[in-house]
Amino acid sequence: CVLACGLAAAQTYPSKPISLVVPFAAGGPTDIVARTLAATMSKSLGQTVLVENKVGAGGTLAAAYVAKANPDGYTFLIHHNGMSTAPALYRKLPYNPLTDFEYVSQVVDVPMTLLGRKDLPAKNLQELSSHVKANAKNINLANAGLGAVSHLCGMLFQQALGVDLTTVPFSGTAPAMNALLGGQVDLLCDQTTQTTQHIKAGTVRMYGVTTKQRIRALPDALTLHESGMKDFEVIVWHGVYAPKGTPAAVIDKVGSAIRTSLKDPAFTARMADLGAEIVPEAKQTSEGLRSWLQSEIGKWGPVIRSAGVYAD
Ligand code: MLT
Repeated sequence: CVLACGLAAAQTYPSKPISLVVPFAAGGPTDIVARTLAATMSKSLGQTVLVENKVGAGGTLAAAYVAKANPDGYTFLIHHNGMSTAPALYRKLPYNPLTDFEYVSQVVDVPMTLLGRKDLPAKNLQELSSHVKANAKNINLANAGLGAVSHLCGMLFQQALGVDLTTVPFSGTAPAMNALLGGQVDLLCDQTTQTTQHIKAGTVRMYGVTTKQRIRALPDALTLHESGMKDFEVIVWHGVYAPKGTPAAVIDKVGSAIRTSLKDPAFTARMADLGAEIVPEAKQTSEGLRSWLQSEIGKWGPVIRSAGVYAD
C-alpha cells in the first residue's frame, strides 16, 4: 500500500505534536524566533509545534540529533549560520549539512550588536578598540561555543583588532547575556532579537551593529562599519531542516505553514520590533535554503580556516 498509505498519511499529517529542536539555551535569540514561529505554525497546522532545546557543542549537538532522528515528519531543526560554519570548525562533525537533511525554508535575517558590560570605561567603538588593545590579557568575550554566531562575530572582532582574548563559552547567549548584565564577562556580540531590550533599557554598553546599514529597530545605533571597522558584516540567517528521507509531502506542508507564518501580522510585527527581517519569498523554499547553505559553506570555510580555530 506504499502509495495509498503515503497519501493517506499525508492527508492526516500532522496527527500528533511536532518537535522543533533549538540548538541553544531557552530564552535566547534562536529560541525567541523558534517559539514565535512555532506558535504561529501551530495555528495553520492544527497541531502543537513544541520547542525542544538541545544545547551543546556550539549547536552541533542538536544538528547531529536531528540528522539521526526518525524522518517521520515529527522532528525539525531550526538553526542559523552555524549550519555553514561547523564543517570548517569541527574536525569530526558527525553529520554533513549538505547531505543529511531535507531543507524546508529560511525564516528571518537578524543583525547582531557588539555589547560591553555597563561599567566598561570605553563609551564608543574607538575607545573600546584602544581599551581592548591595551588590556587584551584582562578582557574576556562571552559566546555560545564554536559554531555559534556570537563566536563568529567575536572572532571577526578579534581579527579586526589583531588581539587574542579569553573566550567564555555558554550553552546559548541567554546565559551569556546574564553574565554580561551581572558583570562577570566584559564583551558579547549577540543578536538584536535578544539585545534590543537591554540596549533600550541602557543596561549594557552598545558599540555597534554588525550590518553595513543602520537598522530600523535601533535607528540611532551606529554600525561597526561606519564607526571605523570597515566592511565588518555579520547577518544571522535561520533555516528549518528535517532529517534526510522525511517525505516530500510533509516538507511541503510544513514549508507552507512557515510561509503562512511569515505573512502573519502578529509574527511580522514581533520580528520587526526585535530587528529581524522576514526573508524574501525566494528564500522561503526548500531550494532557497539549500542553495544558500551551500554558498555560505563556501563563504565561511576559508575565513574560518585562515583563523585556525578548530575543535575535534
Ligand atoms: C542563541 O540562540 O543562544 C544564539 O543564537 C547562540 C549564538 O550566538 O549562536
